[in-house]
Amino acid sequence: MASGTFTVRDQFIPFSPPNIGEEEIAEVVDTLRTDWITTGPKTRRFEQEFCEAFGCPAALAVNSCTAGLHISLATLGIGLGDEVITTPHTFCSTVNVIEHVGAKPILVDVLPDTLNISPSAIAAAITDRTKAIMPVHYAGHPCEMDEIQAIADRHGIHVIEDAAHPVSGKYKGRTIGSGTNPTSFSFYATKNMTTAEGGMLTGDPDFIARAKVVSLHGMSKDAWKRYDKAGGWWYDVILPGFKYNMTDLQASLGLGQLRKLSAFQARRREIVARYHDAFGSSPFFEIPVERPEVESSWHLYVLRLNPEAWRIDRNQFIEELKARNIGTSVHYIPVHIHPFYAEKYGFRQMDFPVCYTNFERMVSMPLSAKHTDEEIDYIIEATLDLAERFRA
Ligand SMILES: Cc1ncc(COP(=O)(O)O)c(C=O)c1O
Repeated sequence: MASGTFTVRDQFIPFSPPNIGEEEIAEVVDTLRTDWITTGPKTRRFEQEFCEAFGCPAALAVNSCTAGLHISLATLGIGLGDEVITTPHTFCSTVNVIEHVGAKPILVDVLPDTLNISPSAIAAAITDRTKAIMPVHYAGHPCEMDEIQAIADRHGIHVIEDAAHPVSGKYKGRTIGSGTNPTSFSFYATKNMTTAEGGMLTGDPDFIARAKVVSLHGMSKDAWKRYDKAGGWWYDVILPGFKYNMTDLQASLGLGQLRKLSAFQARRREIVARYHDAFGSSPFFEIPVERPEVESSWHLYVLRLNPEAWRIDRNQFIEELKARNIGTSVHYIPVHIHPFYAEKYGFRQMDFPVCYTNFERMVSMPLSAKHTDEEIDYIIEATLDLAERFRA
């Protein structure tokens, strides 16, 4: 199909396809041929290799980033009557887990360039009920951790890092997850590395040992230790924990993905450079930033439309790209406008103006190590063609 001089391709380009190769497939098949398919030796190996790759003091593989965040709050004893400060500019799970433990989420606005939580807004929201700050390293761009940590230390409260996006990202030379804060990574299907569903909680070794018990029914011994030849059948339940363990099938995928992550990251940076080149000097777009003190993992490439340059809005822009067989997404629908949160806390759209006004003009462009040069050329051509067609 041709539209003007632009020819629409036949095949749809997905927003973020996983990049699974023969190595992962072989590792999964190898696990399937053994007598142990749930949490066991491959999960422990995945934790160990993840720690080695990013300098983490300790790690616990779990079945999602959400699980890692929930376990963190529960392990730190945060609950009823407590407040946790976080951002509305995130996936709902960051805030849902605060509700799960019975604490109150205190949302504060984000910085205009990175869309990460604003340290000065955090400082202004601290009360004597505040027990933790949950920064989200949005799109893979690390938050202002020195400032956030200083606020937390001053008030003796915890920092729990939502690291769903920044795997391999660095803040002032320090890799995310290499510190002692509870830090929860996601290996969801669209992430830079995937186990289909899964996550990794990293942090201080004592904290991780306690979190491990919380993650599996509060049992004093995990199943592998009980069913192994050297194991015994007795276990004690020492608290009412959850069922958040990762399986060896997932860990098999993770081991293969982790070994290829540097190559995936190099490919992501190539694509980002091409998008920057194409859109960086255009009056139609604002391109994502990477502050000089960080290395982003470039989980997302979030383009912001300059509304005054367009005759169409963000939603129509997405529909036009879809009509040209290009998949995109929006990260995120702000938490405070979801009905549950709006009704429970009486939030209105403009309570967090930086978050809301940027949400209205943002679109996440396709970004995966699997995208080919030809696909990226096509996406750029289609996007620039749209800009000309719908110029204000
Ligand atoms: C910022 C953020 N936090 C948490 C999560 C939850 O991750 P998971 O699906 O692994 O639970 C996501 C998932 O996309 C996310 O984007």
